[in-house]
Amino acid sequence: MKRFYRVLPAVALASCASVALAQSEAPTTAPEPTPVHPELWPAAKSPGLLDAKTEARITRIMARMSLREKIGQMIQADTASIKPEDLRQYPLGSILAGGNSPPIGAPDRSPASAWIATVRAFDTVAMGKRAGHEPIPIMFGIDAVHGNSNVVGATIFPHNSALGAMHDPALMRRIGRATAVETAAAGIHWAFGPTLAVPQDDRWGRAYEGYSEDPALVAAYAGPMVEGLQGKPGSRTTVQAGHVAASVKHFVGDGGTRDGIDQGDTQVDENTLIHTHGAGYPKAVDAGTMTVMASFSSWNGVKMHGNKALLTDVLKGRMGFDGFIVGDWNGHGQIPGCTNTDCPATFNAGLDMAMAPDSWKGLFESTLAAAQSGKIPMARIDDAVRRILRVKIKLGLFDPARPNEARPQEIGSPEHRAIARQAVRESLVLLKNEGVLPIKTSATVLVAGDAADDIGRQSGGWTLSWQGDGNTNADFPGATSIYAGISEAMKAGGGKAVLSTDGTFAEKPDVAVVVFGEEPYAELRGDVRTLEFQLGDKKALALLKKLKAAGIPTVSVFLSGRPLWVNPEINQSDAFVAAWFPGSEGAGVADVLVGGNADFHGTLSFSWPKTAAQFTLNKGQPDYDPLFPLGYGLTYANGGHVDRLGEEPGIDAADANSSLFIVDGIVARPFALETGEAVSRRLVGSPTRQEGAIQLAWSGAGTASILGPNLTLEREANAEMNVEITYRLDKAAGGPVTLALGSGPVRIGEALGQPGEWRKLRIPLKCFANHGTYLGGISRPFTLNADSPLAISISDLRLATDPAGAVCPE
Ligand code: BGC
Ligand code: BGC
Repeated sequence: MKRFYRVLPAVALASCASVALAQSEAPTTAPEPTPVHPELWPAAKSPGLLDAKTEARITRIMARMSLREKIGQMIQADTASIKPEDLRQYPLGSILAGGNSPPIGAPDRSPASAWIATVRAFDTVAMGKRAGHEPIPIMFGIDAVHGNSNVVGATIFPHNSALGAMHDPALMRRIGRATAVETAAAGIHWAFGPTLAVPQDDRWGRAYEGYSEDPALVAAYAGPMVEGLQGKPGSRTTVQAGHVAASVKHFVGDGGTRDGIDQGDTQVDENTLIHTHGAGYPKAVDAGTMTVMASFSSWNGVKMHGNKALLTDVLKGRMGFDGFIVGDWNGHGQIPGCTNTDCPATFNAGLDMAMAPDSWKGLFESTLAAAQSGKIPMARIDDAVRRILRVKIKLGLFDPARPNEARPQEIGSPEHRAIARQAVRESLVLLKNEGVLPIKTSATVLVAGDAADDIGRQSGGWTLSWQGDGNTNADFPGATSIYAGISEAMKAGGGKAVLSTDGTFAEKPDVAVVVFGEEPYAELRGDVRTLEFQLGDKKALALLKKLKAAGIPTVSVFLSGRPLWVNPEINQSDAFVAAWFPGSEGAGVADVLVGGNADFHGTLSFSWPKTAAQFTLNKGQPDYDPLFPLGYGLTYANGGHVDRLGEEPGIDAADANSSLFIVDGIVARPFALETGEAVSRRLVGSPTRQEGAIQLAWSGAGTASILGPNLTLEREANAEMNVEITYRLDKAAGGPVTLALGSGPVRIGEALGQPGEWRKLRIPLKCFANHGTYLGGISRPFTLNADSPLAISISDLRLATDPAGAVCPE
């Protein structure tokens, strides 16, 4: 007989994992592609990329190239998986450094010098004189998506959702220019930006990479940003030193995926694809973008990396795009019938260069074979190589001065920081102000909240690391935290700022500025199932309440990539500022909050939800009912009163829980604990609560399992998430102890350590996959198995992102 133990707490969840009740496996055959009508798409034309002289030069170069060398141009490898010497045998055309990928022989967090050396090392081999080798410079790309944000010391601009709030295309151009200078200064040729996504579901973890839910604003920014990065196109000229190639991404429909699932399926008609998701592309092409990145996502079930009608007929045909299409990170491998190392279909669909970070060698061999067998027509290969060489020539890479243009002194320059600081000022959106702002410069300000003095938190994902985690203030030389900016401004005016992240104080302040918000995240990890902020643990709310109770006026500075449901926090704030992810120049916040010299300028470029269930709240909908509409933003000149807001989130968080299993000894909904005959359980104390843990005791062989709806955890595994158990071993087992996630059991007996102490054990999801778990469908999330007496108290079991000390037992 099995006993079920089910508690229904009001526990909620951090974010993340996806619950799939009806499980379906990845399709192996593609659905019929939705018909495309190129004539319905706006016409455009690449200016200045195509001219007779350049084309003749390309023809001469190509005549000297072997097929091997041509295929090489079509493949891009990642610094983490290739050495410069490999280019002797595999003449690849491009190298990238992914978000977590380091320069050669140096840590991932490195200053410009290490990147300059890396690009040179690859280029030296590519340009070397060898028999039968045509020297062609490599093109080196990086995610310079909010400044050259992988390089230590760079100016970090606000993320795109913030820039949307500025409504300032002219400033976008200057941001593009500054980003280009700092990218070129590190020896890098190519920025994988700007993102032209038009996010329609704010649960999408990449919503902040989009400027707005409003296609018109995305379209208005596309041209200036491309021109800022690349410079103005001219018919004969090459892109000048201090400029880099842009890569508008992700073509097309990335912001429309169902349920806001990253890399998912955008199920819309062609008209919506054109006018909502495609709005920025004609402008970017007209502005001369040299590259376009294909989207991971699908359109009506068909992966964009394999959609010939859209890549070839629309983008290269109707839109007259003469540059090249680059793939996304092994994006080709997601086409049914393809693998990361074998995919003629993507090239036949129109992709010119595949991003094959770790799969380049296999993809090179299979693509060469496909060219030899005629599976990829030679004309297609020649077209791809011609486009790539065209961009390389126009980018000036064949110009001997260009690869050496490396001016580290430009990185983080005062001019660039001033532009970023202006962008911070312009992007702040004042949601509420009951007279507490601006702060008088003579006042005493308590600066509280866990993000008050944390430049990593201000900067969000795609900052020094992929997900933006692991950063400390020391990683940002020359940058300013929000606290530091306020402190400076207060000092200048004769007042003072006191930093106290937990909000405790000795001397009662006149006002408290509380800085809090989302932790950094990027792709996959940033996807959430409801828009409720801090579902599990309302830390920020508790802090605001504490300050209010002490009679201190509160100003919330909310850091987030997207609008979230924060009604309770707004109610506890006398003023509430949406500051997005402002980046390295935190002083821009004080410029507006303190003294009143500068007024607010920003207005929402994403509608702000009234409930946590308004995921797809976008202006123009028939039932549009936001808390704050698109375009909303108060100023000092034009204030407004915000009434007390309703505090019902409007969605049962438990319905969306797929990452919390046990919290404070309580099994979180919708999961349940099942124990076998030989296993007893009772509530015991934990470090945090009197009855805060479940003690499981084995009298003999038996299991304890967490049951619940089917989970798919592939994306979470890719996002490097772990299973995290907080436990105390009460009696060590005499024999083996295993923990299984679905099917793959991992022997954790040794890793549990000695009895008596509360500890955390972290096991990567990937570790379970290596032990046989099929991450695509898990019906029984956890099974703990022992065959001899064992006692263990568990206070917490969850999926978590902190990788510290994670182990994968053999
Ligand atoms: C992202 C792209 C990015 C690329 C290289 C992908 O996973 O989708 O936006 O440019 O990685 O880091
Ligand atoms: C890389 C990112 C990339 C991602 C895709 C990461 O390891 O650092 O740049 O976008 O993988 O899965």
